[in-house]
Amino acid sequence: MQFDTLITNANIATMSETFGYTKDTPYGAIHGGVVGIKDGKIAFVGTMDELGTATADKIIDAKQGWLTPALIDCHTHVVYGGNRSNEFEMRLNGVDYKDIAKQGGGILSTVKATRQADFDELYELSLPRFKSLVSQGVGTIEIKSGYGLDLDNERKMLKVAKKLGDDFGITVKKTYLALHALPPEYQGRADEYVKQACEWLKVLHDERLVDAVDAFCESIAFDAHQVGRLFEVAKSLGLPVKLHAEQMSDMGGAGLVAEFDGLSADHIEYLSTDSIVKMAKHGTVGVLLPTAFYVLKETKLPPIDAMRQHGVKMAVSTDCNPGTSPSTSLLLALNMACTLFGLTPEEALAGTTIHASKALGLQDTKGRLLVGMDADVALWQIDRPADLSYLIGQNRLQGLWVAGRQVGR
Ligand code: NIG
Ligand code: FE
Repeated sequence: MQFDTLITNANIATMSETFGYTKDTPYGAIHGGVVGIKDGKIAFVGTMDELGTATADKIIDAKQGWLTPALIDCHTHVVYGGNRSNEFEMRLNGVDYKDIAKQGGGILSTVKATRQADFDELYELSLPRFKSLVSQGVGTIEIKSGYGLDLDNERKMLKVAKKLGDDFGITVKKTYLALHALPPEYQGRADEYVKQACEWLKVLHDERLVDAVDAFCESIAFDAHQVGRLFEVAKSLGLPVKLHAEQMSDMGGAGLVAEFDGLSADHIEYLSTDSIVKMAKHGTVGVLLPTAFYVLKETKLPPIDAMRQHGVKMAVSTDCNPGTSPSTSLLLALNMACTLFGLTPEEALAGTTIHASKALGLQDTKGRLLVGMDADVALWQIDRPADLSYLIGQNRLQGLWVAGRQVGR
């Protein structure tokens, strides 16, 4: 067989049931394996013996390093203007996140800075964060709007997100998050804002700038009824929904997003059993954001055991944003998901591969190493997959391929 690229002499965490993942083989692992890539897809996964004779334009010796699916960061806000280290300092002087938000800080201070930046400035400001994620093996990134809060600025954010993906050959999924905060010009007129946000969604959808629709369902943001109105519009356009839910209180948001057959409910520290049951029924993924939990010094843990028992799939993401998670390290999120939330390293890796792909509706093409899937592959110089969660502050990435093209290291 003829390949474009062959990666030989590798250990492979396929994360695929075909190779025993979730059955009898942790990580669906293959030792002494090969991955063959052709036309942007995975064309072979197996042992050297199974491969037999083969030729390739490029042969890479993995030197017994580990191959995993390229990581997937399924919840980010990497596109934004400004910086909120001043609020970090305020919080450390005793002011809490909700009070900062009420004083016009928080999300709204980022809205101001994001509106002020023109397209090129916003791109330049977002670029180092984007590159930093990619440098740690991330091949698919979800990027939300939500700091524009008017039609032109939401559009600007989504276009910057698209350009970042196009320029670097990274898969970017663009999410419309106009219901993130109430902009100052709509103070006291939340319902009117929701109505406008629904109209903007139709426009941006027409411009092909929206892959999914998100909102922030919380006492300091929008209630379940308002979110439901937006979701109805998303549904009528055939767009999938997801939700910032149960981050600071139980607003029933996770149950709501599940009832819309939503992709994911994210944060979910205050998730109820009722909502877990609905998420399980509708296949809605629970997205864990341990860095935000850590930054806010939250003490309420997401109900990991209950999600396990009900078979809710769990993803792990950076939530990269200027307020609650100024981090561009998905590897750190893996470590935190284990140490703070008690995930196993295998669950954490699944949370940034197979389950993160489901959280983006990409489960048929990404998140597993299996013939026919996109050739999104990361090569790591590690002894075993648990090192990805265990090593704090070390980046062992050796190579990153997206759709068969080498995009990193
Ligand atoms: O995911 N929860 C709402 N949105 C972000 C925070 C945004 C911000 O503080 O700028 C989050 O935590
Ligand atoms: Fe978020």
